[in-house]
Amino acid sequence: MLCKSVTRFSYYITKNVRRDFHITINPFCKIIKESDNSESINIGNAIKPPRILITGGLGQLGTECAKLLRRNYGNENVILSDIIKPSEENLQNGPFIFADILDFKGLQKIVVDYRIDWLIHFSALLSAVGEQNVPLAVRVNIEGMHNVIELAKQYKLRIFIPSTIGAFGPDSPRNPTPNVTVQRPRTIYGVSKVHAELLGEYYHHRFGLDFRCLRFPGVISSDPPGGGTTDYAVAVFHEGLLNKRYECYLEPHTRLPMIYIEDCLSALFQFLNTPEKLLRRRVYNVTAMSFTPEELFNELFKYIPDLKITYKPDKRQHIAESWPQVFDDSEARRDWGWQHKYDLQRLVELMVQDVNTNFLSKHRLKEVNSYV
Ligand SMILES: NC(=O)c1ccc[n+]([C@@H]2O[C@H](COP(=O)([O-])OP(=O)(O)OC[C@H]3O[C@@H](n4cnc5c(N)ncnc54)[C@H](O)[C@@H]3O)[C@@H](O)[C@H]2O)c1
Repeated sequence: MLCKSVTRFSYYITKNVRRDFHITINPFCKIIKESDNSESINIGNAIKPPRILITGGLGQLGTECAKLLRRNYGNENVILSDIIKPSEENLQNGPFIFADILDFKGLQKIVVDYRIDWLIHFSALLSAVGEQNVPLAVRVNIEGMHNVIELAKQYKLRIFIPSTIGAFGPDSPRNPTPNVTVQRPRTIYGVSKVHAELLGEYYHHRFGLDFRCLRFPGVISSDPPGGGTTDYAVAVFHEGLLNKRYECYLEPHTRLPMIYIEDCLSALFQFLNTPEKLLRRRVYNVTAMSFTPEELFNELFKYIPDLKITYKPDKRQHIAESWPQVFDDSEARRDWGWQHKYDLQRLVELMVQDVNTNFLSKHRLKEVNSYV
């Protein structure tokens, strides 16, 4: 029997606070390590770690993802990029460069100069922000994606592009939502993600591109989210701990699939390292749990008994009502051994700890207030 091996990695969220993440490499990954070496690149007889470019790397997922990859492949091998200005902390652990995904020549230069092997494409306008500026969402989410996929084809890169529960719509089965089913989303965000899924699959079949895509549910971390429909599940921790009250823009019974950041990155890392021969698909659903605002707040009351919740649904309610309630990720579990680690109770416990420790200090108050 193959026994579980655990890769432990820790990182610094702030200068003073150390947190540990534990990424479990399950038996599937052991097979990967023994038979494939797919996490490394073979150059003659020497094996070297991949050089990875992350686009849109200063958003909710990018900085944590860079920390994970740097611990596994070395600081210098993971190049974080974005069009916004990095903080001092962003510059501490490895290279950061400016990269606009709408500038194809600029991207070519980066791939050549840094000898990139893998591309993790995080740049996007999320669901709520996309609806506020459709032309920009078309440019960033569709034209930008055309650039990176063409780049990956030209330079034979492995490319990871996340998709989302938002790639489904009102005609999709919502409980559960299987891996392959009717999609037809009603947001520009969802439309652009279906486009990315299909174009990636097409490039794989037509040109042999190593395209990989996971459909993530709402990702919960203590870092500020980027303007999606599931953001309430992050914002309530900041406002709740800070002000003891929160006005929720979704109705209390709106059920959506969710995942804690550590599980999300664990899925990404494991999927990136899965040998091609195990992948029956290029696009997989992954999830960890499903809950409603009311269920989340009930759990949070255990930590903040005097938390006052009010509800004022806005346009995001309509978006949420067209999305999956329960995500069926059985194909990811079957094909490459995906397993989540965190449930609702553990998620709330960790989020209360994270937000208390890392955000409720004086110098972060302004930052928190700017997005909740
Ligand atoms: N956060 C979630 O809950 C979630 C869930 C499912 C899927 N995803 C996907 O994961 C990816 C990352 O999500 P996130 O939450 O970190 O997003 P985010 O909004 O926090 O970050 C996106 C980043 O893209 C950058 N960007 C915008 N225009 C750009 C351009 N022209 N060139 C380069 N960069 C540009 C922004 O500056 C921003 O830092 C996205 O593709 C998103 O669709 C996220």
